[in-house]
Amino acid sequence: MAKKIIITIDGWSSCGKSTLAKQLAKKLGYVYVDSGAMYRAITLYFLRNHIDWTDTKQVEDALKEIHLDFHFNEKAQSSEMFLNDENVEYVIRDLVVAEKVSDVAAIREVRTFAVAQQQKMGRKKGIVMDGRDIGTVVFPKAELKIFMTADNAVRVERRFKELYEKNPNITIEEVKSNLEMRDYIDSHREVSPLRQAEDALILDNTNITQEQQLHKAMGWVEERLH
Ligand code: CDP
Ligand code: CDP
Repeated sequence: MAKKIIITIDGWSSCGKSTLAKQLAKKLGYVYVDSGAMYRAITLYFLRNHIDWTDTKQVEDALKEIHLDFHFNEKAQSSEMFLNDENVEYVIRDLVVAEKVSDVAAIREVRTFAVAQQQKMGRKKGIVMDGRDIGTVVFPKAELKIFMTADNAVRVERRFKELYEKNPNITIEEVKSNLEMRDYIDSHREVSPLRQAEDALILDNTNITQEQQLHKAMGWVEERLH
């Protein structure tokens, strides 16, 4: 049987992690897992149910009511996030969720809940997972760890374009301040802060196309498969 590996992609907000992760999963026939979608779905649940996430008891009780699942959408050729059997893939991308997700993702109980599920999904390998702590905490022994980065202005511009298509009232300043805030909280939190794993390879995609980034990453994959 062909050898299967675990590929982790961590990095700053909106630097192209999920784009590369999807490309690799498709090319290799691997499962793609967007770990950020899980934190976004938990945040959506907390917001909708008015959970006070500074209260540990409320967080623990709420987590017991949350069931997360990924379903592959054949038409879109990508996996979608389901929260308690509801497809929330679209709504979790809203700025309302993005404004709170880093606070929720910093909570120890929330991370324990999400990480346990992520590790379970990687048991059979053949998986590409993107996030912030995948190479450092979720799969510290992964065969290939990529740390992605891109210039701030480019990241803001890319995310703005995506959000503007959904909501033309959004401003570039709102997007910029959200990315800056999330990057700050994500890299300064106590539990599993965003940092580059010592054995991660850096991929800066500021000036490279999606085809070029795939080509570069596939070179690294092939080195590990042979
Ligand atoms: O796609 P984008 O870079 O905007 O973020 P995301 O991957 O959807 O993740 C949303 C948020 O979830 C991040 O800003 C982090 O606060 C949190 N997150 C995390 O803490 N750990 C992960 N493994 C993935 C996401
Ligand atoms: O997952 P993450 O938040 O890191 O980023 P993403 O959702 O993969 O990418 C953010 C945006 O940048 C998407 O609209 C991608 O199409 C775009 N992108 C790009 O223009 N050039 C690249 N080399 C990679 C991503």
